[in-house]
Amino acid sequence: MSTQKTVWVTGASSGLGLHTAMALRDDGWRVIAGARSFADSPREEEGMIRLKLDVTDGESVREFCQKAAEIAAPDALVQCAGMLVLGSCEETSVEEFRRVVDTNYLGMVRMNREVLPRMRARGGGKIVLFSSINGLMGIPFQSAYTASKHAIEGYAECLALEVKPFGIQVMLVEPGDHRSGSDKYRPHAAAMSEDSPYAKEYADTTAKIHHDETNGSDPDALGRKIARTLDRKRIPFRKRIASADQHLAVYVHRFLGARINSAVLRKYYIRNK
Ligand SMILES: NC(=O)c1ccc[n+]([C@@H]2O[C@H](COP(=O)([O-])OP(=O)(O)OC[C@H]3O[C@@H](n4cnc5c(N)ncnc54)[C@H](OP(=O)(O)O)[C@@H]3O)[C@@H](O)[C@H]2O)c1
Repeated sequence: MSTQKTVWVTGASSGLGLHTAMALRDDGWRVIAGARSFADSPREEEGMIRLKLDVTDGESVREFCQKAAEIAAPDALVQCAGMLVLGSCEETSVEEFRRVVDTNYLGMVRMNREVLPRMRARGGGKIVLFSSINGLMGIPFQSAYTASKHAIEGYAECLALEVKPFGIQVMLVEPGDHRSGSDKYRPHAAAMSEDSPYAKEYADTTAKIHHDETNGSDPDALGRKIARTLDRKRIPFRKRIASADQHLAVYVHRFLGARINSAVLRKYYIRNK
């Protein structure tokens, strides 16, 4: 009987999901990778099994889990599928909020509802949920994304408490900026325009966000850190993978008052305010 461990990875066609899947593959895991751009039937490519998955669609989630389970049950599930919509709170539509929350947060809920019974039946497993530094603090013009990541943080705390007796461990990964994300998954809200009352601050902030991501940390290093951590018998509940200044930002946000936080963040994101 094979002793190779199996991990299912969502959002594994690009960015941090792809880098994490590759690092786990290189570490000896059998990787079953899911994303919308993969084929309907399992296909072995680049040492991983790729299979179509849309985390916003319950039927697609069920089909992915059934087909993946026929190949190998999950010892671990890593959930990276995500997107954001950039825009002011005022001009981001409810539908845009819904899309982001449906993908980032409810997508995880759907996957976990399918995977938890399988892990319980096997006597345990590891669930990794990709949050973000934005799961800990808000920044301007990313409210839909920030809200979805805050939801993941709260949900993960509840989940970890409930599944502990079944030998299931939960880990939140909180990445800072990494140079891997595709602009395809970062659309501007449809209503944002040059006539927006927020136009100047929006332009400054989105330029800064883009700069920080394109000059962000190494996505391969993040993948390797997650692979090393998943090899451990006991995994931490939180794993923040960020630059020193982003660690500092989280610390400042937690321990300083709202007024100082607001001043620091506005100074950072908005030029000549
Ligand atoms: N990059 C960063 O700096 C950063 C920082 C903090 C947190 N994160 C988090 O890390 C994760 C990956 O982000 P990224 O920026 O590295 O990658 P990305 O390039 O934005 O890739 C997003 C991935 O999610 C998949 N996806 C999107 N909608 C999906 C859906 N409905 N069903 C299934 N898969 C879906 C995409 O594949 P398909 O289009 O093929 O479905 C793609 O593989 C996200 O959770 C993000 O919030 C990233």
